[in-house]
Amino acid sequence: MTRAGPGSGDRAAGVVAIVLAAGEGERIGQGPKAFLEIGGRTILEIAMQAAAACPEVSSLVVAVPEGFEARAAGMAPGPKEVRVIAGGRSRQESVLVALQEIPPTVEVVVCHDAARPFAAPELFSSVIAGLAEAEGAISALAPADTVKRVGDGFVESTVPRDGLRLAQTPQAFVARVLREVHLRAAAAGVRSTDDAELLEWAGHRVRVIAGEPVNFKITSPDDLARAELYVLYPGARATHE
Ligand code: C5P
Repeated sequence: MTRAGPGSGDRAAGVVAIVLAAGEGERIGQGPKAFLEIGGRTILEIAMQAAAACPEVSSLVVAVPEGFEARAAGMAPGPKEVRVIAGGRSRQESVLVALQEIPPTVEVVVCHDAARPFAAPELFSSVIAGLAEAEGAISALAPADTVKRVGDGFVESTVPRDGLRLAQTPQAFVARVLREVHLRAAAAGVRSTDDAELLEWAGHRVRVIAGEPVNFKITSPDDLARAELYVLYPGARATHE
């Protein structure tokens, strides 16, 4: 574990943000995705800064691929404490490893994918506020396109869009519940790339907060080019949504 920032202080207070950056970025194929630069800064640096700029967030735990810990610690935005750890083989494992770094006295954890560097600090605050009504709260978008169910290359049906949402991160959770469902899921062999899905599986309520189109996930080389455009020309964010 590599640490940056003012030391442990009162880590039990406030909210801890887990920033997930331990993916290998196989679909882009230029090494770990979060360490690619857009507009001269790494995706991870931008994502960490957004999480740290949320006033409710008191410290960050950042999961990176093994061997990248020191580089990530060097990108810590300050002044909040950032603990960098080696993640797991899957996103789910990375969350579980990160949870082990968080003291049991911390009441709220926000999980955020570094691959979504344009999440606004206010979106972190909104999902945290959503916990007033549920054990989990996610940001999500209504789909803009018509949704088809397809089999063997032919349309089977058109899925009514009412009530459909595309889940994003950040996602906020009561820390005790997130820990409990992750441990149960690991023991039961249940796999998911979405933390909220594990709460649903365990029967917990998850509040939905309106997400932002600009908070898209960088997955393909095209996404990387779009992200670069957004960093270089912030005004493009509005016109491209
Ligand atoms: O691959 P994908 O972009 O869907 O991954 C979502 C997020 O989970 C990314 O930010 C990635 O770095 C992170 N991840 C992780 N540990 C893994 C795999 C993915 O932290 N083993």
